[in-house]
Amino acid sequence: MSIHTPKIDKKVTLTMISKMKGVEPITMVTAYDALFAQLFDGEVEMILVGDSLNMSFLGKEDTLSATMDQMIYHTQAVCNGAKLPLIVLDMPFGSYTNPELAVKNATRCYHETNAQAVKIEGGKERAHIVEALTQNSIAVLGHIGLMPQFLRSDGGYKIRGKDAEDIASLVEDAKALEKAGVFAIVVEGVKKEAAKAITDAVSIPTIGIGAGNVTDGQVLVWSDMFGFFEAFKPKFVKQYMDGAKQIRKGLESYRNEVKGREFPSEDYTY
Ligand code: KIV
Repeated sequence: MSIHTPKIDKKVTLTMISKMKGVEPITMVTAYDALFAQLFDGEVEMILVGDSLNMSFLGKEDTLSATMDQMIYHTQAVCNGAKLPLIVLDMPFGSYTNPELAVKNATRCYHETNAQAVKIEGGKERAHIVEALTQNSIAVLGHIGLMPQFLRSDGGYKIRGKDAEDIASLVEDAKALEKAGVFAIVVEGVKKEAAKAITDAVSIPTIGIGAGNVTDGQVLVWSDMFGFFEAFKPKFVKQYMDGAKQIRKGLESYRNEVKGREFPSEDYTY
């Protein structure tokens, strides 16, 4: 049963997100432009300018060719559209391969956009990168489990946490990231038991995607959740509207009316 919750009426801060763990589930969606960001303003606590934009916005097959310039441009647009949510810029593949490069690129995020944090993918092996960022006053959202930037090196999208050994490894990842200073962790594509073990092991919020209902919050890609992205639909995606069908229906009406000289009628004519 869904409950009715009020809109969010103040700017969401990192402190507010931290305090929500164990108190109230956190809502997060992706956005890539000002138009949609404006629609999401006041509806969710956090917006992720995800590198998934490389697929749903640019039409590429994966996220790997997204660039820092691209992420900055779209984050500027999202910040122009949404004033209340905590906005996170997703650091693209190759932009944080060592601490110096990570700090240089993440500094661009603070210089050139109003985003409050960056997200990087990776567990314990990336803890030193997170540490470099947080020690330089850059807020970081971690991302563990199924990590789309590892698609080619892993040979596909692989669901994680299927056995005790992998769950223990994911818990170690989460703890290492917490120690390095992330304010929250995205947990993607893991078995529910793994998501629960991770969430219980850390004192910072976990934001799940394809991780069941046991995390401290949820994130979905907007074009998936509203039925605009049709190439494939992962099991975890719930479609809250059939966007693509609605657009086609609208366009069919437009085409019929233009061809039939019904549009523009006198109502739409100077
Ligand atoms: O790029 C993205 O949209 C993401 C989400 C899937 C968490 O990283």
